[in-house]
Amino acid sequence: MAVLPEKVADISAGDLAVRFHGRDGAPPSGGVIAVPAGANGRVASAARRIDARLDGALGRAITARGLKGRAGEAVEVMLPRESGLSRAFLYGLAAPKTTTAPGDKDNKTATFPKNPPPSATEMTTTQAAERAGAVLYHTLSGANVEEVWVVVGDARLAVSLAEGALLRSWEFSLHTRGSRKERRRLRRLNIVLNDTRTATADFKQREAIARGVFFARALVSEPPNRLYPESFVAAARRELSPLGVKVSALDEKQMRRLGMGALLGVAQGSVREPYLLVMEYRGGAASAAPVALVGKGVCFDTGGISLKPAGGMEEMKYDMAGAAAVTGAMMSIAGRGARANVVGIAGLVENMPDAGAQRPSDIVSSASGHTIEVLNTDAEGRLVLADALWYAQTKFRPRAMVDLATLTGAMVVALGDFYAGCFSNSDELSRDLLRAGRAVQERLWRMPLDAHYDRMMDSRAADVQNIGGGRMAGSVTAAQFLQRFVDAQVPWAHLDIAGVAWSKRALAATAFGATGFGVRLLDRYVRESVERRGRR
Ligand code: BES
Ligand code: MN
Ligand code: ZN
Repeated sequence: MAVLPEKVADISAGDLAVRFHGRDGAPPSGGVIAVPAGANGRVASAARRIDARLDGALGRAITARGLKGRAGEAVEVMLPRESGLSRAFLYGLAAPKTTTAPGDKDNKTATFPKNPPPSATEMTTTQAAERAGAVLYHTLSGANVEEVWVVVGDARLAVSLAEGALLRSWEFSLHTRGSRKERRRLRRLNIVLNDTRTATADFKQREAIARGVFFARALVSEPPNRLYPESFVAAARRELSPLGVKVSALDEKQMRRLGMGALLGVAQGSVREPYLLVMEYRGGAASAAPVALVGKGVCFDTGGISLKPAGGMEEMKYDMAGAAAVTGAMMSIAGRGARANVVGIAGLVENMPDAGAQRPSDIVSSASGHTIEVLNTDAEGRLVLADALWYAQTKFRPRAMVDLATLTGAMVVALGDFYAGCFSNSDELSRDLLRAGRAVQERLWRMPLDAHYDRMMDSRAADVQNIGGGRMAGSVTAAQFLQRFVDAQVPWAHLDIAGVAWSKRALAATAFGATGFGVRLLDRYVRESVERRGRR
């Protein structure tokens, strides 16, 4: 095989240095400060002393600009030289009246699915702080500020604010020359608060989680000539082994021996060798069954012989975002030392047209024994997942299995770039996942599974076919296909992240491009539903 490209999916781009300082922490002379604008049009209590020193300039700016103290606001105030500071940024910290609410509100009124109400109002305030941090990062970078001293009162809000800034700071820049890399942006975030000890410890955890998000984004951002199954495996090995994750991979021969004809059929048109990446983290009791995370890793999806149109095909470099989310989540989970057993599995292939590629009407057999009639070679993700899911459940006997995949364009049509679809055979698992998603603002909406849709996948020539129903319910039939390979005893959920893995515009927590959707959600799910409950 060719020489591997160097340092694929480098995550060093996340280089915002965050420090917490006690009350005595103070900006150097000529420094830049950021101060919360209180609700009610006044300076927040944490910043009264500073405002007094500035002869009330901050309070007047709040009035003049009509600031409401809500997350998303950030206004610059030039300060006189005698102040010993250069500039102040007034920022909002309180929950905005409408932003994050719609999802929750709609969910509460919806009759199906029934979602639990937001667990606590404090969740909303920390989410607002996260947003405030992201907006501050963006605003300060745009204003050429490289170091800032941010006054925050509450330690928990301070940690969330720092997390928001950190998540927003990552940008894929590996392959640009000079200018963009050297562009001025915020590099040092100093946070002034009362209790630095808990904040510093808490933030360490969040930083570990954020690194997993960055890794996922880096994997997704890399172009397919650099990131292909073999280099994906190499990157995972390089980053995860030092964290105590056992990384291995089944190669083509080993998969052939296991009968993985579905995955191998997709890969056979590509010169890149396919791999089944296996990442094992054991932080829980030796006897406890693991959670299995399974990702679709189609490093590039041309559609195969059922070739996609040229326009927009370049987007299919992110067709491995499910595998990236799983790999990033393994980094987060291991990096923060979770007390849980988790295995991550990624089916890594490239879907290419070629003289040797599989044809529409080919019949392949999966490791589970089911035969599959391939009517459209562009419905390849489900073929890859069929064997990956089978492997996960047979080899690891998981207590729960969650797959993530950019599986269908129909998902983008249905839910756009806000919610991802959640298909599950378990009310409990979907409730846990929806709750975790809400907490980290990676929203899931439960979608149906039903025997009616399942029948649409019956084939005349094999046990199942890989498309069904024309344009009807495309995301549901894809999920039904997957369910045929899942043991009914295993709580399983399929997250179709086709619409949320890549963003064409900057969002609160992400710059343009790869979002890392799923990493924080999976980490949160493990923390709330596996570590906590597992200890009982
Ligand atoms: N990777 C695509 C789905 C996709 C589309 C992801 C847009 C992200 C954005 C998947 O492999 C695919 O091609 N699905 C087909 C299925 C069809 C042939 C039944 C689709 O959605 O059109
Ligand atoms: Mn496809
Ligand atoms: Zn695909």
